[in-house]
Order: sequence, then C-alpha cells, then structure tokens
Amino acid sequence: DAKPDVTWLGTPISELGRMPDCGQQLPRLKNVSGQHTVLIRTDLLQNGKVPVPYPAKFTDTWDDVHVKMPWSGMNLFPVINENKSRWELIKETLSKKITSAQDLKNTILKYSAGHAKKWDFTALHSYCTKVNNVHLFMYLFYFFIYLDPAILPVSIVCTCLPIPLLKGGMNHSITMSQEQVASLLANAFFCSFPRRNSRKTEYLNYPDINFFRLFEGASPKKIEKLKTLMCYFKSVTEQRPTGLVTFTRKSLDRPPNWKSSQSQLTKLHITCEGTIEDDGYGMLQVDFANQFVGGGVIGSGLVQEEIRFLINPELIVSRLFTEALGHKECLIITGTQQYSSYTGYAQSYKWGGSHQDSTPRDGWQRKCTEIVAIDALQFRSFLEQFHPARINRELNKAYCGFARPGERSQNLSAVATGNWGCGVFGGDTRLKALLQMLAAAEAGRDVAYFTFGDSQLMTDVHNMHAFLTARNISVGEVYDLLGQYYSSVCKSCLSRRPDVSLYSFIYQQVSSSLAPDASDSGAARQH
Ligand code: AR6
Repeated sequence: DAKPDVTWLGTPISELGRMPDCGQQLPRLKNVSGQHTVLIRTDLLQNGKVPVPYPAKFTDTWDDVHVKMPWSGMNLFPVINENKSRWELIKETLSKKITSAQDLKNTILKYSAGHAKKWDFTALHSYCTKVNNVHLFMYLFYFFIYLDPAILPVSIVCTCLPIPLLKGGMNHSITMSQEQVASLLANAFFCSFPRRNSRKTEYLNYPDINFFRLFEGASPKKIEKLKTLMCYFKSVTEQRPTGLVTFTRKSLDRPPNWKSSQSQLTKLHITCEGTIEDDGYGMLQVDFANQFVGGGVIGSGLVQEEIRFLINPELIVSRLFTEALGHKECLIITGTQQYSSYTGYAQSYKWGGSHQDSTPRDGWQRKCTEIVAIDALQFRSFLEQFHPARINRELNKAYCGFARPGERSQNLSAVATGNWGCGVFGGDTRLKALLQMLAAAEAGRDVAYFTFGDSQLMTDVHNMHAFLTARNISVGEVYDLLGQYYSSVCKSCLSRRPDVSLYSFIYQQVSSSLAPDASDSGAARQH
C-alpha cells in the first residue's frame, strides 16, 4: 500500500504539552496516612541509587485491607496433623536448581494447593525447549524471592510496609521501587501469592496475579509473551533498576454537569501513524483497559492493554492490589519503564528484542511515563452506545482519567489516546473520539489522537473538531447534540445501525440552527 500523503492534521504535535517540560515541581515525597503509602526510605532517595525499602523489618499483616504476602507467618500449608509455613516450603523447593520446565512445574505444584494439579505447563515447556534453557536465569531471580538475611543485601527488598488493597471507591496512592516491583513480579511468576489461585475466594473482584495461566496452552502467542517477560526479568537482574513507580486509584466524586458546561474544545493533533507509547512520550497515555486492569495479560489477551503491560511489565503488579474498577474510577500508573519492543498486533504480535528506555526521571525518580487505565463499556449492539446513560458513563470515565483537580491547565500534558473501546469492546470510533475530546476539554487538556492506520477516521475527526471549534461550540452544546441524536435518530431506529451517522447529524443540526445569512459565522450564534 502506498502511504497517504497526509499523515497528520490539526495542531502540530510539537505544540502539545509533554512531561517533564510542561509540569510543575513535585512536592516532597512522603507517606500520608490514608492517602499515600510509600514503601521506601524517602530520606535516602537519590538519583542513580537503588532505593532502600522501608521499614527495614517486615510488618506482618494478614487482613482484608492489605495484600496477603507469600512470606507472611500466616501463610500456612496444611500437611497431615499440622500446618507448615508455606513460605518455608517455597524457599525449600526453590532452593533446588531448576533446569527444565518440568522442574519448574514440579516446584510450583509442591507449594500450590490442590486445584493447581489442573494447571498446564505446555507453553512454558515449548518456551524452554524452543527458546531458552530455563535455568539460565531462573536462579538469577531467586534473589527476589529470598527474604533470608543470609543472602543480603538484595534479600531485603520486600521488607516493606503492608501494601494496602486499592478497593473500589478509594482514593489512594502506593509508591514503591522498581526493584520491589520486580520482587513482587518474581513471586507472581512462581505463583506464590496466597489466596490468589482461585477466583472463588476473597479476591473474587481482583485480577489474577499468579502467572499460571501464562504457562498453559499451545498458542505461539504465549511464547512471545514469555519472551517479552523474560527479557524484563533478565534486564532487572543484570542491572538493578533505581527508580520508583506510583500507582494511584482515583474515584470521581463529583462528575461535571455536562449539559451546562461552557468549556471550549482544546487543541487536537490527529495522526494515522505512530502509537500512543512511541509518539505520546511524556503525555498522559491511555490504557484501553479492562475493569480488571491488565485484562488478559497473563492469560490469552494480546491487544492494546496487554501489549502495554508486557513491554512495561511493572504495570502488571497493579493486578496484585487493584480491585475491579467502578464506573467512575481509574488507575494512574506513573514511572514504569519500557523493557521490550514489539512488532505486530494480536495474533501477529512478536517480541522485538530488548528496549533501552531513555525517558527522563522526575523528582521522585520515576520515569516520566504516566499511563491511565480507563475501561470502556463493551457494546454488543451498535445503537446501545448512544443511549444517554452510556454516554454519561463513558464521559465520566474518561474525565476521571484525564482531570487533575488543583493543577493548572498549562501544567498538564496532552492526553495521548486513540480508538478507546473500539476494538475488542466494539465501540464506534467517531463517537468515542468525540467523547474523549469533550472529556479532555473539560479537564483542560489537549489531545494527541492516534487512529492506528485509519486515515479516513483522521480526516473525519479532524473536520468535526475544526467545525466545532470554528463555531465556538461548547462541550455542553455538543453534549446536547448527542442527546438529540439519540432521541431523534437512535431511539426510533429499527435496523441495527442508524440511517443518519452521528457526524452528519451534527453538521445538519448546527448548520440549520444558524441564521441562514450567517450560517458560517461563529459570531452569529451569540444571539
Ligand atoms: N496505539 C494507538 N492505538 C492503538 C494501539 C496503540 N499502541 N494499539 C491498538 N490501538 P483494544 P478496547 C487501536 O481492542 O476495544 C483488552 O483485552 C486499534 O485501532 O485493545 O477498549 C483489555 O484488557 C485497536 O483496535 O481496546 C480489555 O479487555 C483499538 O485501539 C479490552 O481489550 C482498540 O484496542 C478493551 O478493548
């Protein structure tokens, strides 16, 4: 295919805000009870130095507001007539050298409960025979597992504060070091998190964290996933990462009054080339999420969200403590690093080798990569998404992800997004692009929109944005037009798709509502 002549429209991308340039100085990093849990010694935080876990001694908790840790004294393994410490058993089993997929399987099964017997390790087996002899670096990341003081100093990485569960409705941040993340992910790899192997238990409303589903099945996609994750483990074991990552669960307490909003649309850069992660560096990058963050990253999914979680694996640890997102909630992850590159998408996805991430760090030693997980609604029928209740839901969800109350608009980076909710989730790209523009406008942020190869979409969305801005049409007015479209076109529609498209309806309505002699003048609408 010949490349289209025009690859972008609207505002040049160089005019949009990126971090760190557009941002303000961060306040001092500190623990704030009930708001921010910091798992490292902030007084010792220093550029280029591995952060020191805080406190130095593990605080054992085993309750329903914190993550149950593998090394908790309460993590027991029933054997005849007694309860053995499961962590002792894990350490014991993992201290033997693992040289094959079979060894790994046997190891994991030793300390995993009965249902683990059903687990299948086909993918891991193929990976080990085709790609890499597993023992090469299996023992290398043992050190993440050990809390044994004899193996100091790296053994102390997990002596952190109890990790709070980020439950529905909470507004709370957790900041930890990249090395602590690696330690937790190594545990996930070895399936050591207690109570997390069956969704029937107390963690019903949480994503899976133990990696057993990654090892199952014969799909070649699993091999590529394993290659991508092993690249991460190899990288963090060869060179200790020195940064921090923050996970923030955010809930919208007061949704905007969309109908009465006077906000004007912000700037739009739209392109049919490039990706959110490559070309949206320093911007607020949208993760087209599942309500269980990470979606099928450990299982069989391999689209936008899963790919992002694979190339920036530190994102995966959010699955350990993030309860399913509610309608007015999002998860913001700041500071993750990209360790792998990739080619292809979904079925054609291939690990593309290791990646050197040159993103600068902020004052908290976090990579200036801010990702927001917002889950769109999944639509089974096309018309459903135009229902006012669905529109409100999507607007509020996007707004929750984009808005930063208390920060000035000029200090906010642009939102880097694209066809949110329009792949697996079946949404309409033209509607979703408009909704995201409204939410971004209300949040005071510009938009960089990546159409992922669709040049017609680029033209259509650009024209709509230009049409609305030329006439100073406010967010509230567009919202009203969406309502009109539903009641006059969608509600009475008997076929699967409306006869009039949303965009042609908007063009018609706006043009006919203008005075005939001034139909092209924005000023005429003031009367
Ligand atoms: N940059 C820009 N656009 C992209 C990129 C990228 N890197 N990758 C894909 N697209 P989809 P959804 C475009 O289906 O519909 C996951 O399993 C491309 O046009 O991932 O919101 C989650 O866990 C693609 O068709 O998002 C959820 O369960 C479109 O974005 C579910 O999928 C939508 O990508 C969410 O599905």
